[in-house]
Amino acid sequence: MQIREVPFAAMGGIYEADDRAAVDRVVAAALDANGNFFPMPEENEFQTLLARHERARRVVAVNSCGTALDCCMMALGIKPGDEVITTPLTFVCTAGTVIARGARVIFADIDPVTLNLDPLKVRACITPRTRAIIPVHFTGLACDIEAFDRIASETGIPVIYDAAHAVGALYKGQGIGGRGQASCYSFQSNKNMTCLGEGGAVTSNDEAFAERVRQLKTFGYIYGGPTLRVASIGFNYRMTKPQYAVGITQLNKIDRVIRLRQERMVKLNELLADVPEIIRPAGHGPEHGSHLYVVRLDTDKVRFGASAFIGHLKSKYKVGTAKHYPPVWSWEAFQQLGYTAKGCPLAEKICAQVVSLPVFPRTTDEDLHYVAWAIKQTIRDLN
Ligand SMILES: Cc1ncc(COP(=O)(O)O)c(C=O)c1O
Repeated sequence: MQIREVPFAAMGGIYEADDRAAVDRVVAAALDANGNFFPMPEENEFQTLLARHERARRVVAVNSCGTALDCCMMALGIKPGDEVITTPLTFVCTAGTVIARGARVIFADIDPVTLNLDPLKVRACITPRTRAIIPVHFTGLACDIEAFDRIASETGIPVIYDAAHAVGALYKGQGIGGRGQASCYSFQSNKNMTCLGEGGAVTSNDEAFAERVRQLKTFGYIYGGPTLRVASIGFNYRMTKPQYAVGITQLNKIDRVIRLRQERMVKLNELLADVPEIIRPAGHGPEHGSHLYVVRLDTDKVRFGASAFIGHLKSKYKVGTAKHYPPVWSWEAFQQLGYTAKGCPLAEKICAQVVSLPVFPRTTDEDLHYVAWAIKQTIRDLN
């Protein structure tokens, strides 16, 4: 095959003329003599549409998944001395939000098939100090939500899902947004939809919890009485009017984007079926949020590591990849706080094997065939 470039694209979704028109409308209105970027009816519309899409009673849109997680930790009153259990196979901010409250992160091990947090391992980590559990729907594959529901109802410990990868994901045919205490979404540029580069949301079926998050997001404001009240400290975690406007147009096309991604991930899964050195991801199909396609290099079957594999794919075959993720404990900041791989041997092994392959809505059939070929060649070259 002829060498071609298949980059790991920065933009995860599709940005089109309707998105641009949505921004133009907001900016054009602001050019008017009485123009302004407030009020923002787009905010409510976006929240209503997202609630319907994710099947949650309430949505509070915020400016990132990081702030969504922060709001949830604050709404739960997480404080020094508390423990919060999460997965080591995640973006740094899932655990960072716990550290930011002065609490201790407890890493529980992952399921080697789904790569999601293993509910049985979580149970073994629960202590009298456990105040929350944060499972991540890694790559867009929903966690074992029923198992976490059981833990929550038996122990009273709230579950906050990190759904940064999982807009549109289904669990047993149902939307995930109303499950657990709350779920936190990301609309940052790499994700399957974006609100002009950044964005996030907290979804919940608990009205009181959602209201607390809403207050945290907007200076602690309490509306609805004869006068505006501020009864607790809040912040400004709002998106801007153009971002809400684009969130609406992005939501209008998210199902199409996910379908395109799903088809391509299923196809690449088929193309890699005859490569024994590659462990293919589980769960790709109609229920998968299809944000990432993450394979594992079976390091028991080859004489090289994932870094050499990634380097060779890029330098010789011009195939871009990404790493989701190094284990959270390996970041310098977590090392300094004394975090280690203790108790998570599977995550330790698997994090060293994971490679995210380039699959996007605009990835072509030729790209997929080329990537599968380049992987086979790389294994032959290096072995
Ligand atoms: C699993 C996970 N959680 C949280 C985040 C943070 O999202 P944001 O960039 O919207 O703050 C990300 C972003 O990549 C993520 O992948």
